[in-house]
Amino acid sequence: MDLPEAPRINPSILAADFVNMQRDLARIATADFAHVDVMDNHFVPNLTFGPQMVERIQATSPIPLDVHLMITDPDRWAPAYAELGAASVTFHLEAAADPVSLARTLRSIGSRAGVAIKPGTPAEGLYPVLEEFDQILVMTVEPGFGGQGFMPETMPKLRELRDEARRRGSAVWLQVDGGISDDTIAAAAEAGADTFVAGSAVYGADDVEAAVTRLRQRARAGSLGG
Ligand code: DX5
Ligand code: ZN
Repeated sequence: MDLPEAPRINPSILAADFVNMQRDLARIATADFAHVDVMDNHFVPNLTFGPQMVERIQATSPIPLDVHLMITDPDRWAPAYAELGAASVTFHLEAAADPVSLARTLRSIGSRAGVAIKPGTPAEGLYPVLEEFDQILVMTVEPGFGGQGFMPETMPKLRELRDEARRRGSAVWLQVDGGISDDTIAAAAEAGADTFVAGSAVYGADDVEAAVTRLRQRARAGSLGG
C-alpha cells in the first residue's frame, strides 16, 4: 500500500450514522484513513462494535482502516483486526500485558502497529521501544466518547515525543485524537502531530469533504509554524 503523506486526516466514524455507514464511509473518500473506534464497555465506559462489524467496514470503506482499540486484553483481541485487513491497529499501552510482542504480532500479520496513551500516561516508557511501533497515538481527550474538548495540557508530551523520535531518527507517526477541530488542529500540528483524528469536526460539518480539506490545510499551516 502507498502510504499517504502528512498531514494525514483520519475521520472517526464514531460520529457517523451507524445505520448509514456505507453512505458515511463514501463521504470520507478524500481523507487518508477511516478511524474505527472499538470500545468494550470495560476499558472505557462505552460500547461500539467488534470484529464482525469492522470486517464489513473494511469491505465497504473507500480508504484504509485505522483501528483504535479501547479494549481490555488487546494481547488477545487485537490480532483479529490485523487479520481482517485493517491497515493499522492501535491498542492502549495501559491495557496491554506485552506491548512489544503484540506490536510484533500485528506487523507480522501485515498491519501497522500503533500504541495509544491516555492524557495522564507518560510517554517516556515508549522511548526505548519506539522502533517497535509505526504510530503513537497521544489521546487529547479521555478515551470513550466523541465531542469532548481538546486538552492542551497533552501538548508538552507530544512535543517531547516528537523531539525524542527526531533524536532517534525514527519515522514513527504521531497521531492525536479527541477534540481536533478547525480551532485546535494547528496547535497539535505545531507540537508535532502528523496524523489527526476528527469525528465531530468532520461528520458535524454540512460539507464533509470540505471539512477534511480545511482540516488538512490548517494542519499544514500549523506544522509550518503559521
Ligand atoms: C474517543 C475516540 C475518538 C472520537 C473523537 O475516545 O477515540 O476517536 O471519535 O471524536 P471527536 O473528534 O468528536 O473528539
Ligand atoms: Zn479514536
